[in-house]
Parts: sequence; C-alpha cells; structure tokens
Amino acid sequence: MQSQIVAVTVSDLRNIKEGDEVVLNGWLQEIRLLKNISFLVLRDHTGTIQITSKPDTTSGYDKLAQMTRETVISVTGTLTRKTQSKSGIEVLCKSIKVLNASKSPLPLGIIDPVSADIETRLTNRFLDLRKPEVALIFRTESELLWGMREFFHDSGFVEVHTPKIVAAATEGGADLFPVQYFEKQAYLNQSPQLYKEILISAGMNRVFEVGPAFRAEKHNTPRHLNEFTSIDIEMGFADHHDAMHMLQEGIKSGLKHLVSHRPDIVASLSQQVEVPVGDFPKITYRECIRKLDSHGEAVKFGDDFTPEQLKLIGAEFTGFYFITEWPSSLRAFYTHPKPGDETVSNSFDLQYREFEITSGAQRVHDPAMLEERLRSKNLNPDDFSFYLNAFRYGMPPHAGWGLGLERLSLIILNLQNIREAILFPRDRTRITP
Ligand code: 4AD
Ligand code: MG
Repeated sequence: MQSQIVAVTVSDLRNIKEGDEVVLNGWLQEIRLLKNISFLVLRDHTGTIQITSKPDTTSGYDKLAQMTRETVISVTGTLTRKTQSKSGIEVLCKSIKVLNASKSPLPLGIIDPVSADIETRLTNRFLDLRKPEVALIFRTESELLWGMREFFHDSGFVEVHTPKIVAAATEGGADLFPVQYFEKQAYLNQSPQLYKEILISAGMNRVFEVGPAFRAEKHNTPRHLNEFTSIDIEMGFADHHDAMHMLQEGIKSGLKHLVSHRPDIVASLSQQVEVPVGDFPKITYRECIRKLDSHGEAVKFGDDFTPEQLKLIGAEFTGFYFITEWPSSLRAFYTHPKPGDETVSNSFDLQYREFEITSGAQRVHDPAMLEERLRSKNLNPDDFSFYLNAFRYGMPPHAGWGLGLERLSLIILNLQNIREAILFPRDRTRITP
C-alpha cells in the first residue's frame, strides 16, 4: 500500500483532530461538480461524509467528471470542522482513487426520493440494502437476536443445529417441499420440532436453535414467507407456563440489548422501541370467542380466527399478548391436551395486534398418548418411529415454542411487508436473488 495513513470509517471522524490526514473507503453516493469546487458524498457502513474537492489541492481533479454514482472509491484528505455541512465536519480531498467503477444508470437509486416498488427493490437487493434505512432493519434484527441468544445461553440453554433435510412433516403434511434424497423421498423441515423433542429425551434439558424453516404454503400475503428464520426452544421438566415465561423474558432481553447497546440504531429508527414491563397479558381461546361475539362476530369452537377477528381481539391490548388453551383439533399432534378438559390444549400463541409471533405448548410425553394423537390426526405412527422411540425409554415432560424472527422484526419495526425483514425472501414466485 502506498499510504501510511490508516483508513478510518465515517463514524470514526468524530474523534479525529482538525487538520489530521485520513483515508476513507466507500461508495460515491453523490457528486456535484461546480466550476472551481466539487462536493462529493462518500458512504460507508457507518454513515456519510461530505468531501470537498478543489482543482488546485486535489490531484486528478479533472477525472471527477467521469465518476459515476456508487463507484467504490478511496479518498485521502484532511479533516476540517469549518464547514456548512450538516454533520459539522467534512474532508478536504487531496486525492481520490477509483477502486471499482459502477455502471450507470443504476437500476435502483440509493438516495432518490421516489420509492421503488418492492419487486424492483428485491430484484436489486444488493443496491436496496445499501440504503441506510434498509440496512438498519438487519442491524436491528442482529442486535435483537444477540440479546435473546445471550438470555437463553445464560438460562442454561444449549444452542443446537438439527437437520433441515427430514423424513416427516411436523406441522401438517400439505405444506412440505419435497426433496429427492438419492433413492428416498425427503422434505425440507417445517420446524425443528421433532428433533428438539428428541434432544430432551437425550438429556440435554434445555435447547435452543436459530435456523431456517420451510413452508410450501401458497399464500401470497404480507406476513408469509416460504423460508423463514425460526427461533425455537424446548425445555425438559417444564410446562406451557414455563415456556411462556421464557418467551416473554427472551423477547424483553432482546429488546433490552438493542436499546442499551445500540442507542444509535434505536435513535435512527422511524419507529419507537420500548422494552415491555411486567407480564404479557393472557386470554384464553374461549374468552376470545366471547369477546368476538360481543362484537357481533360469531365464531364456532374449533374455528381458527381470521386476521380481521384477531385485529378486534388485538385492539384490547397495547402490545404483546398470549392467546392460550387452543382447541386440540387446531393444534399439531404433539400438543398436550389440557387435563380435565381435553377439547382444549396446554398451548399458546404469542400475538401482537393481529400478528401471530409464536406458537408453543406443553408436549405430549406419554408414548401411548402420542401414538393415539398421531392416529387421531390420520398420521401413521410407523412413519414417526425414529421420533416415537425417544419417548419409549424415558422422556421427561417438556414444553417449548417456535418464533418467526421476521414476524418479530415486522412488528417491532412496523414494516409493511415481511419480505422487508429477510435479506433474500423466498415467496410464491421468487427464488432469486
Ligand atoms: O405456528 P408454527 O407453525 O409452529 C411451529 O412450527 C411449532 N413447531 C412451534 C412449537 O414449538 N410448538 O410456526 C411458529 C412461528 C409462527 O408463530 C410464525 O411466527 C412463524 O413461525 N411462521 C412463519 N413466518 C413467516 N412465514 C411463514 N409462512 C410462517 N409460518 C410460521
Ligand atoms: Mg402457529
């Protein structure tokens, strides 16, 4: 390298003395060429800075006229605080090197005020992600997940990685993506459900996993993806109350981490972020039916709620709330019925307004009851022998849940479409980029 000066980021400039020489690497976001002076905006992953360039102090000034937006550049210059620029600092350019030129025009503007439609944005996702407000979604997600991971780690959970190529459905057979696995028929996993339960029999006691889950749902809605990120936990010697407590505290810890470690991110968000206090309220499925009835909405026991009905229920709560005791007929085979009232189950969904964020439950641990539950859902226990075996030689009572990370970002960041909360969405029509 020619230069002895260490490269800095835009955010580092705050701590640099007036007159010091710096090197900045980034993208040429904007360029305004005037007669005897030019103004450039350089952007890196930490922010933007105005670069002022003059013919007599910048070597190669005449090359500026050919530079296209989004070209990758390296600028050497001195820091000055005598400036009209918004940030109160700028860099006086000594030299500018093109590291890699960008083609022009751009298929998607980075700073242009016209907001492109979601399809154009996703097709050009590498450019879309350069927009600071889009990048913020993923920085927020990363901090949230870090805080949750820390909480589960400190609560004795082991982070695990279960297979994504599987032999059986967990959440219903119709939504499976088939995979040709040599001579056998396999599928992409819908949830780590069966494996996290097996790990409880294996004596791991508390496990959590963050990984992809696949659903071949033909929905095309602002809240469904065909591949999403599932955060899952499973706990031994525990019931649905314990699982709900862990969920509530896990979400609070994620938000606390975001707010306390990255106040800069929180300040840049258009949405206010608050850490919930106290317990999340709970309402049973039957209470929901009564509430809906008072709104003139007739729901039969055993029916799922429509998004409109969930909006009515959600309007009664200011933030997260649990709907508990779902009908056993609506829940997957592994869900434990409520002792004494087996038409309902020891299950719950965590909701935020009309959005379902998490489903969880106490699980059936008795192998005979589990076989019976499989049959009642028209499933063949023989197809699940690898799973049932783990219940036949000492399976503790257990409970857990699965949370869609993108659904969580959707509500925390108040996004319009879940596709905005995942880097490269897979939906009904999109498998690239
Ligand atoms: O409600 P689901 O299907 O429950 C399970 O997978 C269970 N095995 C969980 C458990 O441990 N009992 O999925 C769990 C969560 C949903 O609440 C939702 O947040 C998310 O995963 N999810 C989706 N997110 C985006 N697009 C989809 N198509 C989703 N399907 C589920
Ligand atoms: Mg669910």
